[in-house]
Amino acid sequence: MSLAPKTVKQTAIEDQCYKIFPNDLNSHGTVFGGIVMGLADRTASVVAERHAEKVCVTALVDSMHFRAPAKRGDILVIKAAVNRSWTSSMEIGIKIFAEDYKTGEKHHIVSAYFTFVAVDDDFKPAKVPPIIPETAEEQRRYAAAGARRERRKASD
Ligand SMILES: CC(C)(COP(=O)(O)OP(=O)(O)OC[C@H]1O[C@@H](n2cnc3c(N)ncnc32)[C@H](O)[C@@H]1OP(=O)(O)O)[C@@H](O)C(=O)NCCC(=O)NCCS
Repeated sequence: MSLAPKTVKQTAIEDQCYKIFPNDLNSHGTVFGGIVMGLADRTASVVAERHAEKVCVTALVDSMHFRAPAKRGDILVIKAAVNRSWTSSMEIGIKIFAEDYKTGEKHHIVSAYFTFVAVDDDFKPAKVPPIIPETAEEQRRYAAAGARRERRKASD
């Protein structure tokens, strides 16, 4: 387990796919929100654990915005990356698109921010590596994650 800094690209997930089948639907025939939340949490946890090289637990979901529905047969395409890391916690940003397999059209259905905490064998918070935001977009997300953490602390 190394605490050497990592770039965002080292652990980011670009296009994790999940095919929507009938058992994923709600009674309106669109995708059940809980399925999407579970996929988002699992994908974010992979990014967090690759960054930390430790077991990571979900501590907080900071807004989960369902912007549009996905339908039967769509392919969910999930993107996830470390926005920022602190001492033992990390914010992972998630963006999910629904892709129509017939037309290839994609629309953005969900954005969310997950905070994961790395834990040791006794389930105590453990240190995680610093993150290196390289691109302008990564730097914007890094700053926004800091602002969200400050806002949360101020309202605690
Ligand atoms: C997450 C957990 C390990 C934190 O343990 P803790 O002893 O309360 O942690 P501390 O107060 O020492 O804080 C440790 C870090 O976690 C962060 N943290 C703790 N609770 C948090 C919360 N609700 N939201 C955001 N960050 C949180 C702190 O900001 C701190 O971050 P830093 O080290 O990067 O500065 C503990 O609360 C836990 O085990 N929760 C249950 C997790 C779980 O089971 N998740 C699955 C849900 S089903």
